[in-house]
Amino acid sequence: PTALAGRPFLKELDFTGEELRALVGLAAELKAAKKAGTETRRLQGKNIALIFEKTSTRTRCAFEVAAADQGASTTYLDPVGSQIGHKESVKDTARVLGRMYDAIEYRGDSQAKVEELAAYAGVPVYNGLTDDWHPTQMLADVLTMTEHTAKPLTEVAFAYLGDARFNMGNSYLVTGALLGMDVRIVAPKTYWPAQEVVERARELAAASGARVTLTEAVEEGVAGADFVATDVWVSMGEPKAVWDERIAALSPYAVTMDVLRATGNPDVKFLHCLPAFHDLGTKVGREIHESHGLGSLEVTDEVFESAHSVVFDEAENRLHTIKAVLVATLA
Ligand code: CP
Ligand code: NVA
Repeated sequence: PTALAGRPFLKELDFTGEELRALVGLAAELKAAKKAGTETRRLQGKNIALIFEKTSTRTRCAFEVAAADQGASTTYLDPVGSQIGHKESVKDTARVLGRMYDAIEYRGDSQAKVEELAAYAGVPVYNGLTDDWHPTQMLADVLTMTEHTAKPLTEVAFAYLGDARFNMGNSYLVTGALLGMDVRIVAPKTYWPAQEVVERARELAAASGARVTLTEAVEEGVAGADFVATDVWVSMGEPKAVWDERIAALSPYAVTMDVLRATGNPDVKFLHCLPAFHDLGTKVGREIHESHGLGSLEVTDEVFESAHSVVFDEAENRLHTIKAVLVATLA
């Protein structure tokens, strides 16, 4: 991945399948080295700014621990504690932080903001999630898939169920297409990714040998899948008012044991970027239960807690894959 030195990490479409595979391979090496106690510090003296205009558990912690493991320091800028977005433009923020830091992570709403930050910072900028893309999450998902199947990625089938118009749906579609996978988007048509994203995925698939399927039919969509994935039905930044419409439209796409059985694959694995609404263990979960009488949404607790679920491997892999991005772009 020396070809990635100094590059930003803004969206999957900026990379080749080979580059994404190299990052996942580097993540696997870094993971093994950490577990063996042989990790070497390749980012000593580097300083990384972490801008979060939306909240985070995994992404923030992964950046902080990855940087610390590699000898770099981080500064966390929370959704309200800096001038960003209130008193200072993205362009000015980029030019200030670019003078002090070796790299900048940004999580927020619009993709245009992270692209603008990258255009003016003069240092690598990493997208820690926007409304449109979640590229560091994809590296973790692909690493997790490689750990839970003996097949090469080009023989792996995965189905994403739920709201596919947002970051996770877009990112899964394009990543599967780049890596030559059999990728299925299973959702009501109105929840499919935007036409331009679908067209880009089809072009990439033609070159990579990927199979791209968009379907409203759950049984057909998951048949033969090695992995079934979903995401929350209401994303960060969306109003509570959309709960009614999401529950009405997406309930048939909840990941249940019946959905896993419909894959016909007894070894099927379940993926979720997290956080998930699968029980009443959260404030939002209890609110949904009170307002709609439901105990789970996008995935049942039974699936989430089953042996099919690899969501905590996936969460851990955020650390190793984000570390790979830092090492590949900064070391
Ligand atoms: N999956 C993910 O990005 O989690 P956080 O929102 O906790 O960072
Ligand atoms: N689609 C979700 C992903 C969270 C990691 C959101 O944007 O809130």
